[in-house]
Amino acid sequence: MKTISVIGMGYIGLPTALLIAGPGKKINCIDKDKNKINDLKNGKIFLNEKPIVKLFNKKKNFLKFSDTLLEANIYIVCVPTPVKKVSKYLFQEDLSILYSVFKDLESKIKNNDLIILESTCPPNTAIKLYKKLSKNFKINFANCPERAMPGSTLNEMINNYRVIGASSENCYKMTKNLYKSFVKGQIYKTGLTEAELIKLFENSYRDLNVGFANEVDSISNLYKVSSRKIIKLANYHPRVNIHEPGIGVGGHCIPVDPWFLIRKKYSKNSLILSARISNLKKEEKIYTQISNKLDKKKKNLFFGITYKKNTDDIRNSPAKNIINKLKKRFPNIYIFDPINKKYNNISVKSVKSMKFENLFVLVNHDWLNKNKIKSKKIISF
Ligand SMILES: NC(=O)c1ccc[n+]([C@@H]2O[C@H](COP(=O)([O-])OP(=O)(O)OC[C@H]3O[C@@H](n4cnc5c(N)ncnc54)[C@H](O)[C@@H]3O)[C@@H](O)[C@H]2O)c1
Repeated sequence: MKTISVIGMGYIGLPTALLIAGPGKKINCIDKDKNKINDLKNGKIFLNEKPIVKLFNKKKNFLKFSDTLLEANIYIVCVPTPVKKVSKYLFQEDLSILYSVFKDLESKIKNNDLIILESTCPPNTAIKLYKKLSKNFKINFANCPERAMPGSTLNEMINNYRVIGASSENCYKMTKNLYKSFVKGQIYKTGLTEAELIKLFENSYRDLNVGFANEVDSISNLYKVSSRKIIKLANYHPRVNIHEPGIGVGGHCIPVDPWFLIRKKYSKNSLILSARISNLKKEEKIYTQISNKLDKKKKNLFFGITYKKNTDDIRNSPAKNIINKLKKRFPNIYIFDPINKKYNNISVKSVKSMKFENLFVLVNHDWLNKNKIKSKKIISF
């Protein structure tokens, strides 16, 4: 019987624990948030994706919940690796949570244990952690950055391709064996740092691509043509894939991960840095654009608060940032999101029955296609 401690019961850790859980495996679900652990013990989960709730109800008896680290043979680390603001357009990684978890691990690990790092990290983080632990223990260390998308978490965890950066051939085999129990996508072997870089370049590519799409949008506006049409047709080219323009870039990964690649030494003329700054500025530009033309006396409805459409995730959401700023200047604006209702100040019934002067669509949830809102003007971005 193998014991596995999954550390960090968030968007990534909890679904991972659920997918691994089953006969022959004891799963310890660790989180330092006592309330979260108590909720989990009482059968309550904060993720409201139906497949996750269903799997939780099916597998909860295989799980043990704890707010302190429990000894195991395999440790899977899924804690946050955020950035902190240094100046207006400069952010830097904050790995303090990750380091504190590894400090705890030092008191628990034994020779031959397997440690899997799923958190997204700056290049060389895994190798440094591995070297530190291997001074005193003969351990196996794997780096398997997760890339699942909230809203489709289980589907992506099962079907996405997976990279295993491993400290040795044996470590690769052990890690692959574990992931094989639920991953249907291809699994590729890499080095520890390669695994980090692949994940970081994927998300930087997407950040750059959105920045490019926003530039396509600005240039198209100059010529009074629809950027959506331009992008749709340009994407018929077999080697072109321009993303959608928007009000900025949000979520837990894309506005964060590129900063891990931005180093003083390499950042002069860095495209990655330019895209990051451009996407931060886009949010400010939209705020200025809206606040310049907003008439306080009219009924203005702002639709969508999440970081992208059809999700309830509001982490680093440009829509949330814009609305929070607008609310200070225009306290009478109406805010409505059909999925994440936390910021709503109007009921769904009133949204459907009232007539608005302006409907600002910040996030184009599919709900809008199925429901009608009466407004003189609709402003989309
Ligand atoms: N959410 C995503 O879409 C996504 C996708 C791919 C990769 N990732 C990466 O996965 C990692 C985890 O992200 P997440 O979205 O699951 O984060 P999250 O914020 O949803 O969850 C992290 C959990 O870790 C817990 N935690 C914090 N400090 C702890 C400690 N010292 N010991 C134990 N638990 C602790 C928190 O209480 C929280 O419950 C990050 O590195 C992130 O970049 C996230």
